Amino acid sequence: MPDPRIAQKAPYVMDMEPGSYIYCGCGLSTKQPFCDNAHKGTEFEGQKGVAMLVEIEEEGTKAWCGCKHTKTPPFCDGSHEKL
Ligand code: FES
Repeated sequence: MPDPRIAQKAPYVMDMEPGSYIYCGCGLSTKQPFCDNAHKGTEFEGQKGVAMLVEIEEEGTKAWCGCKHTKTPPFCDGSHEKL
């Protein structure tokens, strides 16, 4: 995948309900940390990890990666501190 855009250099920490979510991996979405299809028609379209389906099984707090450089997508692994 081309180098993703850094949406923010920090995670989006959110209280989540169980359900299906689509994580934005390219950083172009205006509805961070979720996909709004902004990747369509760009170099990111069709790339692996751009629109990632995530199943949340239990309610709880999640730290979604905002920098898009995590090694453990869709969640923050601290990589943003090295950007
Ligand atoms: Fe991307 Fe933390 S926000 S690794």
